[in-house]
Amino acid sequence: MKVLSVVGARPNFVKIAPLMAEMRKHTGIRPLLVHTGQHYDLEMSDSFFQELGIPQPDINLEVGSASAARQVAQIIERLEPVLVAERPDIVVLVGDVNSTLAGALTAVKLGIRVAHVEAGLRSFDRTMPEEINRVLTDAISDLLFASEPSGVENLLKEGRPANQIFLVGNVMIDTLKTCLGRARQLEPLGDPEIGSENGSDPPAGFALVTLHRPSTVDNACVLRIVWQALEEIGKAIPIVFPVHPRTRKRLRDLGLELMGIAPPFARPNGIRLISPLSYLRFLHLESLATFVVTDSGGIQEETTVLGVPCLTVRENTERPITVTEGTNTLVGLDPERLKEEARQILCGKGKRGRAPALWDGQAAQRIVETLQQQLPAS
Ligand code: UD1
Repeated sequence: MKVLSVVGARPNFVKIAPLMAEMRKHTGIRPLLVHTGQHYDLEMSDSFFQELGIPQPDINLEVGSASAARQVAQIIERLEPVLVAERPDIVVLVGDVNSTLAGALTAVKLGIRVAHVEAGLRSFDRTMPEEINRVLTDAISDLLFASEPSGVENLLKEGRPANQIFLVGNVMIDTLKTCLGRARQLEPLGDPEIGSENGSDPPAGFALVTLHRPSTVDNACVLRIVWQALEEIGKAIPIVFPVHPRTRKRLRDLGLELMGIAPPFARPNGIRLISPLSYLRFLHLESLATFVVTDSGGIQEETTVLGVPCLTVRENTERPITVTEGTNTLVGLDPERLKEEARQILCGKGKRGRAPALWDGQAAQRIVETLQQQLPAS
């Protein structure tokens, strides 16, 4: 069975790692990996391949940064001849990025079966680029692997047949469980790149912040409001903020970036801006944080399993189980709510939560078993 997986952006790499490792255990499976090149630099791509032991991609389409339409168009154009030459039995796609949608469209147009890992998640907010990617990818996928029960319910409501939907758990948590021990052996702030004045120890208590969604950072008004709330929070607890390239540009445009620069925790606003971290360093920091402020999807899931309270700066989440069972609280774009929830956590009233069913480190194994059952040997 030839299984061709397509990845392109940072969260894809975390999700494909356990699947590639699992597929390589089976002699009956020939896994191929295509990197679209949506993310391409050391921090956003290469460090993930190195740390997570993902095999070097068989093919890199090198599309690079562009508007969503150009990215999707270029991936389709460059992936088509690869699929025609390789004729895989199935194309596997993970997550909700532009590379996910482009991979699904290319395969389905060639009559190749498509499997979507992390199917059925819905924010019901069609202004999010990721929501469009999710809805369209699920509509044309043959095998739908859901990470939480809401995914199954959403797919059934959209009319997808029950026999194509499999609740398998969360591959991102497979990676977390595999890597946490190794991550904890690293000095999270000891990297010279991050600043030697940090020494090797993170502060005793700190809040970890990540923001990168266009709806948060591309809107100057929203970014200013969130930043002001962070400055307030920073007076009570030091903030460590690894900055995504998109966010760095926006902060620079608003003249805010300089305000957070080293020395780390002596700044009046208490916000320490650092470069994007490798997976392992970030995971270690996340596990040590008093709480996390984020607009990311995957981080809502990771904090739930780590038992770290998470304040999500969004009006909605496509991962509702992190709120109902986990440590996640949606604070919307309301700075007062963000500050109040942070205060509550600092008073010891943060959510503790529990790991959802099937978030046990075995999701990739279930997916590969299902692939073998569903696809006749060729
Ligand atoms: C993409 C995903 C988002 C995911 C995020 C993780 C879509 C629609 N969005 O958003 O769901 O959470 O990745 O990071 O696919 N850049 C670099 N180096 C790189 C790649 C990008 O500096 O290796 C910069 C470029 O200036 C680029 C910008 O980051 O314009 C944004 O990259 P892009 O691929 O458009 O999407 P993300 O915002 O990263």
